[in-house]
Amino acid sequence: MSTNRPVVVLAEELSPATVEALGPDFEIRQSDGTDRDRLAADLADAHALMVRSATTVDAEVLAQAPRLKVVARAGVGLDNVDISAATEAGVMVVNAPTSNIVSAAELTCAHILGLARNIPPATAALKAGEWKRSKYAGLELQDKVLGVIGLGRIGGLVAERMKAFGMEIVAYDPYVTSARAHQLGAQLLSLEELYERADVVTIHMPKTPETLGMLGAAAFERMKDSAYVVNVARGGLVDEDALEQALQAGSIGGAAIDVYASEPSTHLPFFSRENVVVTPHLGASTAEAQEKAGVSVAKSVRLALAGELVPDA
Ligand code: MLT
Repeated sequence: MSTNRPVVVLAEELSPATVEALGPDFEIRQSDGTDRDRLAADLADAHALMVRSATTVDAEVLAQAPRLKVVARAGVGLDNVDISAATEAGVMVVNAPTSNIVSAAELTCAHILGLARNIPPATAALKAGEWKRSKYAGLELQDKVLGVIGLGRIGGLVAERMKAFGMEIVAYDPYVTSARAHQLGAQLLSLEELYERADVVTIHMPKTPETLGMLGAAAFERMKDSAYVVNVARGGLVDEDALEQALQAGSIGGAAIDVYASEPSTHLPFFSRENVVVTPHLGASTAEAQEKAGVSVAKSVRLALAGELVPDA
């Protein structure tokens, strides 16, 4: 049923706080961003589109939304939104760049601890009736080296938190000064040095043509045979075929992966390995992060649809 209120399409499940923050002035329409035909139909008279990471907002989608004024990404990354196509179509793009950084950092730390102490495989074994204490003996993190690739908002939080476990933090980030790294308790190294020294390598880079496949065969070859690799950042930063080969060859010790080159992904070869922990893109999936992200972009949508200036989040 159509009303005279501007239409806001939610292409994914967003927190109840998002809808509350939008208020009563809009017609809110729940859609499904993974179903392109349904999304196109729902966007035909829409003024705003709100998404998380599962909806691809490209030129084709934008062409089906002639009244669209704003695309809001309830999260940090914008790699599922074609910004140049949106700019060309005169559609504003907003996001919530700090909303889920704590949640993403905490999941990274959880993965590091889970890998070091074999928590996921030991849980699975015990639930299957197997009491195997020596099989799941782990690694103490104190005095081990954490290599953080990308010492920005999330990488910095990970560094600070893992420092509290007594880890030595080394980092690679061409955009960070040694003074800033020092403030975070980290020492800047070249990528090659980081690979050689780190017991755990965690990546926190955006997905760009330069970072795609950054953790690939050459990187794994340089790492210690015991190194753990963690990716809670973006699918595609880790070359999945090279990861499988490195695990197969034993040239790294294990991996924890939250994001995939193609999502949803449920059947990658390394999923069955005991030294691999996988989660389904849960970095931002906490009540707190979803509330912050939803409320922040809901405010931006309100401003954009009122023709007001949208401040940088
Ligand atoms: C982000 O970029 O902030 C996350 O991927 C958001 C999400 O999980 O939808």
